[in-house]
This record gives sequence, C-alpha cells and structure tokens, in this order.
Amino acid sequence: GEVSINLKDRLKENLPDNIYSILETASDLAEEKGVELYIVGGFVRDLLLKKKNYDLDLVVSEDGMEFGKALAKKLGGRVKTHEKFNTAVVILENDLRVDVATLRFEYYELPGDLPKVTPGNLFHDLYRRDFTINAMAICLNRKRFGDLIDYFNGKRDLKDRIIRVLHSLSFIDDPTRILRALRFKHRFQFKIGKTTESLMLSAANLNIFERITGIRYLKEFKQLFAERNASFILDDFEKYGCLKFFGDKISIDHYIKQIALNIDSVLTWYKLLYKNSAEDWLLYLMAILIHSKRDERLKIAEKLTLKKRAKNILLNYKAFLREYSIFAKWQDRKLSEYYHFFKGVEIEILLFAIAFFDDEKYRKNISLYIDKYMDFKLYVSGKDVIKFGIKEGREIKKILDRVISEAIDYHITSKKEQIEILNRVISSFKP
Ligand code: CTP
Repeated sequence: GEVSINLKDRLKENLPDNIYSILETASDLAEEKGVELYIVGGFVRDLLLKKKNYDLDLVVSEDGMEFGKALAKKLGGRVKTHEKFNTAVVILENDLRVDVATLRFEYYELPGDLPKVTPGNLFHDLYRRDFTINAMAICLNRKRFGDLIDYFNGKRDLKDRIIRVLHSLSFIDDPTRILRALRFKHRFQFKIGKTTESLMLSAANLNIFERITGIRYLKEFKQLFAERNASFILDDFEKYGCLKFFGDKISIDHYIKQIALNIDSVLTWYKLLYKNSAEDWLLYLMAILIHSKRDERLKIAEKLTLKKRAKNILLNYKAFLREYSIFAKWQDRKLSEYYHFFKGVEIEILLFAIAFFDDEKYRKNISLYIDKYMDFKLYVSGKDVIKFGIKEGREIKKILDRVISEAIDYHITSKKEQIEILNRVISSFKP
C-alpha cells in the first residue's frame, strides 16, 4: 500500500463543481466524526481513465449508516439505510446518488451464496472486490485528500489494459464476475489476464452458473448487453460458459450472430432517433433464444425472474415474427394497415423484427412506423365523436380508427383537416 500519487488536482479538474463539493462536504464530515473516508471502485477506475462516472461509492471506517444520514442532512438530500450491511444511499437532486458503506470483510460460506460480512479494514474491503482495476481507493480525509491507494497494482493493469482478479477463488465466490469481466473487456477493449482467463475457464467447466440465482444473473446480463455493439460479446459469452445458465441445449450459431449484429445497428439507429426507451438486453436475449420453443422460453423467463412485460415479450416475439411474415407478403397494403398491425406491439419486438428479417421491404415498413407513425398525433378524440350523437364504445372506436387510417394514408397532421375527416367519416358511417 505505498502511496504513489495524489489525485486531488485530477479530481478538481475532471469533476463538475457540484460533484467535487460533495466530496469536500463528505471530507469535512469525516473530520467531524473522526473516521476514515475513501471513495472506491468504478469511480476511481474511470477517473484514471478520464471517463465520466459520477457514481460515488464512499466507504467509511465505522458506521456508514450514521455517516449517510449526516451527509444527507448536510447536502439537503434524502437517505435510505440498510441496517444489515450498515450502508446508506444519499439521494440528491438530478438523480445524483452517493452510496455509503462501512469498511467490511466478506467471506463466503458456500460458493455462489451471498457473502457473510464482518467489520474490516480498507485492505480487506478492497481484497473482496472483483478486479484489480476496480479495487483502488482514493482517501478523502483532509490530510491525505486525493491519495491513491492501490494495493493490487490496479493502475498498472489499467495502463496495460488488463483485467485481473485478486485471488484464485474469485469466480467461485461470485460467478457473476465472469459476466463482469466480459463487460469491462468489451467496454474498454481490454484483455483478460492469462491466469484470470484460466480461472474463468475452469469456473465455467464447473457449471458454476447452475448455482447462481436468476436475480443476480439477470442484473449482470442486463448490464453486459446494454453495452454498445454487444453482439461482439456473444463468442466470449459462450466460451466462458455463461450460456449454461439457460440449460445445455443453447449455443451461438451463425444465424444468431448475424441477428445480433443486426441488432447492434438497429439499436444505434433507434437511439439516433432519440427514442431510447427500449430494453437493449432483451433484444439480445431474443436472439440467443431464437431456436427455442415457447415452453423453454417460459422456463427461462421464470428462472430469470423477468417482470411481466419482459416475460410477455420473450414468450410472444416468435409468434409476431410468424404473423408479420404472412401479413407483409401481401403486396399492396396501405400505410394505415401497417399502422393497425403494429399498434400496441412492444417496441423491443418491432426492433427485433427489423434485425430478424432479411427482406428490405419487411424491415422498411417497421422502421417507417417507428420513425413516423408510432407517435402519430390524432387531434380528434372520442369526445368529438360523442358530440355527433354516437354513444356506443365500439362504434366510437371504429370511427376513430377510420379517421386515423385516412389521416395516416393522406399525411394529414393538422387538427383542422382531421376534424374535416371526422365529419366525412361520420356522415357516411353505417355501423
Ligand atoms: N464489485 C465487485 N464484485 C461484484 C460487483 C461489484 O467486486 N460482483 C465491486 C467493484 O469494486 C465495483 C464496485 O463494486 O467497482 C461497484 O460495482 P458496480 O457499480 O456494479 O460496478 P462499476 O465498476 O461501478 O461499473 P459501472 O461503471 O458499469 O457502474
């Protein structure tokens, strides 16, 4: 633990003022309370890489819960505490969060279980972490403010672009670290160290993924496949045994790889439209499970503890692909027919379909819908229809559907003209 460098200037230069002043406030509080205070983990890694990261993970030598409460008071935020682990989260404006933990020593009674926790020191706290690049700390106590603490040569590994674990049981203790290794490898274009790689491979051979819960697997899966161009992860994903969580039948073939590659581009396109409400990871999961039957997908959805929406998507997307391939065969469909066909279909399924179909025509109509018509604004509402004396719900819906069809087919986007359509539709309406 030789202190080699001080990062105070780096902190000051790289952080926005409001973030830097949070660190100063925490530092003052540590003096008041007479405790040791550090910032640790991904924040330190990204500061050294000069990448933005404002996830503040603080650890104090005693009673993180009380420290969190006092910090929330000073910063004018809310606080949530977690008695069992003696931790707190301070929640500030603009979605800013500060995690506060108490230095701890963790050990695992059974592989894959959650760790048991006792009080510890900084060395122990860092030693229990995943990789050397994530196991550095910066001291925030006044006299040592900015001192880098790097027991495991994390800084050197960052420079050499290598992912390394701290000890040989790391993946046995926590198999989700295999997914994390792939995430950092892919994100930073790092290599995995030789020893670390063979530890990963032997963990994979032990079928380590059979033992972890769906919740923990899902959390890391989501983060892994939220990385850009995640299709490039798939080979490693299979190589290091991560697929085994889904059973022993599934493998990554050319077909899946091609779909996943298309998903990369579809997601890039979709984000350029500033529509980013899709769950990326779900598209890659759909690709991975493209050859599996509905009941297999049901089992997997349950094992992953997917929420209702994601679960339904996973169960229904193949049926949609089948129906759409029949629907789109018909040559002269109007725009409005596509509109009604796509309406209500989850965005992840639509995006997946663009990645799935080879036929340009099949893809184009979906992307047109997403880009132009998905949020089509109809100014005419049920109330307007009722004014004409029509009361029955089903008829109101039929009339509105006809109005929206015409508005879409003839590109009518003004309120005035849409009302004219309504007039016309109603005068010729026969239920
Ligand atoms: N950590 C760990 N083992 C895990 C999960 C987390 O050792 N299975 C430690 C690492 O030190 C990590 C820190 O907890 O840096 C915070 O975890 P998390 O927020 O998940 O990761 P980050 O490294 O901050 O990654 P990201 O930048 O994607 O948030």
